[in-house]
Amino acid sequence: MLFSGLSEMGDDPILLVSKMFKASANPNKVDLGVGVYKDANGHTAILNSVKKAEQYLVSNQDTKTYLSPAGNANFNQVVQDMLIGADHPAVHESRVSTFQTPGGTGGVRIGLELVKKCNPNADIWISNPTWPNHTAVTKSLELKPRQYRYYDTKGGVFLFEGMMEDLSRAKSGDVVILHGCCHNASGADLSNDQWDELATVMLEKGLVPFVDFAYQGFSRGLEEDSYAARLMSTMLPEALIASSCSKNFAMYRDRAGAITLISSSAEEHLKNESHMLGAVRVNYSMPPDHGAAVVAHILGDTDLRAEWISEVNKMRNRVKKMRKLFVLKMNEKAPNSDFNYIEELNGLFSYLTLSAEQIHTLINDYSIFLMANGRINIAGLTEANIDYVTDAIASLFNSESV
Ligand SMILES: Cc1ncc(COP(=O)(O)O)c(C=O)c1O
Repeated sequence: MLFSGLSEMGDDPILLVSKMFKASANPNKVDLGVGVYKDANGHTAILNSVKKAEQYLVSNQDTKTYLSPAGNANFNQVVQDMLIGADHPAVHESRVSTFQTPGGTGGVRIGLELVKKCNPNADIWISNPTWPNHTAVTKSLELKPRQYRYYDTKGGVFLFEGMMEDLSRAKSGDVVILHGCCHNASGADLSNDQWDELATVMLEKGLVPFVDFAYQGFSRGLEEDSYAARLMSTMLPEALIASSCSKNFAMYRDRAGAITLISSSAEEHLKNESHMLGAVRVNYSMPPDHGAAVVAHILGDTDLRAEWISEVNKMRNRVKKMRKLFVLKMNEKAPNSDFNYIEELNGLFSYLTLSAEQIHTLINDYSIFLMANGRINIAGLTEANIDYVTDAIASLFNSESV
């Protein structure tokens, strides 16, 4: 039989946490697993700007005929402007394209497909730790993943020197996946000076940056967060940027994302583009339009754009507020713990510096669902559950000191 003989694939570790949360009957259960923003009521609401743009489309869109493998051209333009700016040198030199993809994941996939076509021997350097799909997609293309040190999850320390040391072993033509901001899973980002230092070394060594940019707007602001994407694509002759509108437009299920390719010359770029679009054609032919059409409408309309920016600011500020509150409560409830580092980190995620047993206790005794490695989604914390969560974590420290 054709469809027999496979052994079952393990669940994706992130999706496994969601499954466990759904299955729990504990009325106090808390989901700190999957990376979605939640508001103060623990709800992942549709943004007002998105609702308005959807209403506009319902009234005004007059065809749903095919677009093309490149997707929605207006979306591609506004996304590119937001990522690298309309005055980017690669724009003037006709060596940049942005193509809509199904989510940021589609962007990672299509970007790596081009890498595979151009150089199947390129190693793909991935931060340790990272979003697990970086390694999974790399392996699925039979490219070789290599790890570089990034963050000590048990000590809560960003390892910039370790990162630079590991990347010094990369060979020319290797690809380095970098989190544009709000590193998933640590929340630790390079400072602008560190990005400058990294870009200089990558240029010297002939390494190719692949910036995965899924959280623009969640660290410091939309413009400020694009520092790495702009720097890498300006200083280096070639770059890839995978971007996602899942988080900053809260359109997770609409799958609006993009891949942006910067080539070394206009001539090479035309050839590279054709291979990238060829990869799209044999995968899914064309990306779905709805989410992209919504984004294009919002970013192209002055009032809606302003409303969306204020909604992004609100999401970012709520996460920052919960970081602060978490640290405050932990210092009150367990002065012998040290979670102060959580306040300084960016975006949705951080690691709790807990042992495997302590994490197990939070999941099994308290139904607080977090990743087995200690990663939590800070946006899962609300005023309503913060005491339950911090009491549970404090009990781990207070019982140890008895
Ligand atoms: C680092 C990183 N890259 C890419 C993605 C993919 O996002 P999307 O849902 O748009 O495919 C995510 C989503 O969690 C992410 O955290």
